[in-house]
Amino acid sequence: MAAIDEQITTNGSSSPTEPPRVGVDIRSLIPKLGLREYWYPALLDKEVSAKKGAYLKLLGDDLFAFRGKSGNVVITSNACPHRGAMLDHGNCLFPGFVTCFYHGYTFDEHGECVAVLGEGPDSPMVGRVKAKIYPTVTLKGVVFVWMGNGEPIDPVHGIPEDFFDPDVMVMSWINHWESNWRPTMENIDAHYAMIHKNAVRVLMRPFPNFGRGGRPYQIVQPHRMKQPGMDDNRSSSRVRDTNTDPQEYFPGLDAKWPHHNYRRYWTWMFSWADRRRARMNYPLTEEWGAGHHLPGIFRQNYGCKLFTRWIMPVTETRTRLWYFHATRPGNALGRLYERVHFTLIGNWLANKNFSEQDSKGSVYAYHNTREHLSPWDVHTLMWRKFILSSPELRAARAAAEGEQPPVEAARR
Ligand code: FES
Ligand SMILES: [Fe+2]
Repeated sequence: MAAIDEQITTNGSSSPTEPPRVGVDIRSLIPKLGLREYWYPALLDKEVSAKKGAYLKLLGDDLFAFRGKSGNVVITSNACPHRGAMLDHGNCLFPGFVTCFYHGYTFDEHGECVAVLGEGPDSPMVGRVKAKIYPTVTLKGVVFVWMGNGEPIDPVHGIPEDFFDPDVMVMSWINHWESNWRPTMENIDAHYAMIHKNAVRVLMRPFPNFGRGGRPYQIVQPHRMKQPGMDDNRSSSRVRDTNTDPQEYFPGLDAKWPHHNYRRYWTWMFSWADRRRARMNYPLTEEWGAGHHLPGIFRQNYGCKLFTRWIMPVTETRTRLWYFHATRPGNALGRLYERVHFTLIGNWLANKNFSEQDSKGSVYAYHNTREHLSPWDVHTLMWRKFILSSPELRAARAAAEGEQPPVEAARR
């Protein structure tokens, strides 16, 4: 293991002025179907009816969700353990159980075969066959599933704290990108002033600043990387200067970019919102503060709300993105306002219009060509290395090289 880890640590420079050093290309060491020993958001509780259940695919696994006797959503493999028929083509003929359409093997929420309708009440297979059950927990209407082979970790260390706080309201939107999951998190870099320059909410502010070199992140928790100096309780939004001309001269072009500064005609109208946001607090713990979290979570503290994008590999070429919008309304009227605002405009502004622009960098790009990285790409390198530092990948590398895995490697 030492050999590979050594090469990994040479792949990147933390200096803001020097381009990162290129050692080995570590992209290929990251699993195409993501990390497994983690909780992931699977589907919304309301998507699972009592009679039919729902098919879903996560991390390459074909899964089936149905409602168990307890009323909770249960997730099992979609392959019937008898002879592999697809459970989503069957029905829940009895409340709390799923029955395979082929020979009638019927399973309860623990995966036990409790009846075989095709063979009759005396079937010898009852109690002898078990369907694989993936552990689940339902929080604020979202069903989370443990995709690991090991024992699930305590959900409070695998699912953001917003889902456990009764004062926090969480709304969500789901989308899919036709690309692998790996590039979807690699976008703390110089893309903002290009890809997002004409998002509606970016148009309300002066043209985005040009970069002056990326800053290395800090690993502050087993699953969290954050910007150095970031306050976990405050908005990371900055008040933008509406007076300075954003145009800069590029000598190689003998021209200025951006081409013009028309935004000065309207940005002054919105600068009060910048100032207001910068004063607001949204307290978070160090474990669940803003930044990047394994297995594929990005969080941004806007002071008035918390943005979370959680990436879920579906197949090697398809990724599901959950957008969670968390706020702390003080009363019922506040909750109503948040719901109406999110439904009518907030979700569109923040997610559909702005955040979805990032999909271009994943979908319309080759991810196997040689890279020439700049200091701005230091975050991307750090994130890749952070993924590789996950205990399950360290253990896999140790096993491949015939070494004992680190003691804690099987967990977290
Ligand atoms: S394959 Fe499912 S009952 Fe036979
Ligand atoms: Fe972006």
